[in-house]
Amino acid sequence: MQLTIERTKQPKAKPTDESKLGFGQIFTDHMFMMDYTEGQGWHDPRIVPYAPLQMDPSAMVLHYGQSIFEGLKAYRKPDGSVQMFRPMDNLKRFNRSAARLCIPPIDTDFVLECMKTLVDIEKDWVPHNPGTSLYIRPTAIAMDATLGVHVAKHYVFFIILSPVGAYYAEGLKPVRIFVENDYVRSVRGGMGFAKTAGNYAASLIAEHAAQDHGCAQVLWLDGVERKYIEEVGSMNIFFKINGELITPPLLGSILGGITRDSVLKLAPTLGYPVREERLTIEDVFNAHANGTLEEVFGTGTAAVISPVGALVWGEKEIAINGGEMGPAAQKIYDTLTGIQFGTQEDPMGWTLSL
Ligand code: COI
Repeated sequence: MQLTIERTKQPKAKPTDESKLGFGQIFTDHMFMMDYTEGQGWHDPRIVPYAPLQMDPSAMVLHYGQSIFEGLKAYRKPDGSVQMFRPMDNLKRFNRSAARLCIPPIDTDFVLECMKTLVDIEKDWVPHNPGTSLYIRPTAIAMDATLGVHVAKHYVFFIILSPVGAYYAEGLKPVRIFVENDYVRSVRGGMGFAKTAGNYAASLIAEHAAQDHGCAQVLWLDGVERKYIEEVGSMNIFFKINGELITPPLLGSILGGITRDSVLKLAPTLGYPVREERLTIEDVFNAHANGTLEEVFGTGTAAVISPVGALVWGEKEIAINGGEMGPAAQKIYDTLTGIQFGTQEDPMGWTLSL
């Protein structure tokens, strides 16, 4: 396939105050697109000016949610050049999500090349302020104009780019998390491991209860026994108990985060042993009661390493590490972001320069 490039004639002004970027508010001048038609496969790959999509009101994605996406970032290095973090791992996960949602897989090598070209064209949009980056959002949606519930025959794949700051308004200040008892996010056999729109739609209702308790996010429990920790709304979660980092294993209902995987690989090199193990909410509150719960933090591309300062579970509330970011979370944050921003060596070979 031959990538075509059409440059915008009306480039937008770039944000002047990078301290006010927020998350996913601003989009760059160009996007990547390609189409899929049954019998023809993915075709017509192109970089075009960023613009609204044209779709029929009966487009299947709008009715039945056949939609998947990814999230990764490009970072500005101290020498001014730009690099991406583990992009191939995101594209491989994209294809795992695609398989679950019956969306045809993409050619990951080809799409990575197109993504690099797109980010290169938009490299002036990669912000410079510490902690800021260019968020990359690959997405695929079903486009068939029909109301029958079946696997679509037409899809569009696109990549849009957004200069971003911190995902949480709190930044690196620890967030309060609400343990959800009534609703569940997913069950094994469902779509929990896939990055698909419906998982996020299903999570929204719990936001209200969380907000009523002054919490930024929801901690999901498993859908069967309603006691095992799963993940937080936009991140995976780690508990430091008695010197060890513990995170729930990937049993099908939670997202296999790239940042989660990076922490599992980095933390032991920093002196923190890790374990993937099922943990109940009661285990966590008991560990707090007996003084062995040392730290809790979330991990995600958008959220990076996000310390949890308090957990609210029914009538109970615990403060973690005195509501402060703990030393393990800080060390892992410094090392991970050091690799991502190129201020530190990348012994794992995770970064890809443009
Ligand atoms: C990410 O961390 O990249 C996510 O996709 C989480 C959220 C913004 C949906």
